Amino acid sequence: MQNNKNDENNFEILNQFRPERTEILKALHSLQNANPQHYISSDAMKAVAKYFNITLGQVYGIVTYYSMFSTKPRGKYIIRLCKSPVCYMKGSFNLKNYLEEHLQLTASTENISADGLFTIETTECLGHCEQAPAMMVNNTIYSNLTREKIDEILHALKTNNYEL
Ligand code: FES
Repeated sequence: MQNNKNDENNFEILNQFRPERTEILKALHSLQNANPQHYISSDAMKAVAKYFNITLGQVYGIVTYYSMFSTKPRGKYIIRLCKSPVCYMKGSFNLKNYLEEHLQLTASTENISADGLFTIETTECLGHCEQAPAMMVNNTIYSNLTREKIDEILHALKTNNYEL
């Protein structure tokens, strides 16, 4: 029953796109954005294969090629720390370790904090090198990061739980 509902939702989203290959990436973005856990489920991949008349293997290949897509559930807030040279030299790696410890993210938690709010990833340059180190939380960029600033950001997200 739940699968039927998921299929309906997936096809409702897919119907907004022309069934042409040039639309596949946009459709995948929409499917991922519509999923509260920010990932592309196997049901969604099957629906994409059917809708665009390509194989499931081709869909999987696209989803796993682009780092912005995930095949696994993620937290409500996806924290992407910049790992490019300037941020790296200014300590982004240490901040990533700090965040992982602070949020108790391990392989066993599948990179989702216990409250379901946070997932940590890395990203290439965010274009804010002059204010390195930088990170992006969903669609918002934060720069000149320190541990204290990260604590403030996490606190704001946890307490206000606002949409970014
Ligand atoms: S190197 Fe991190 S924002 Fe450019």
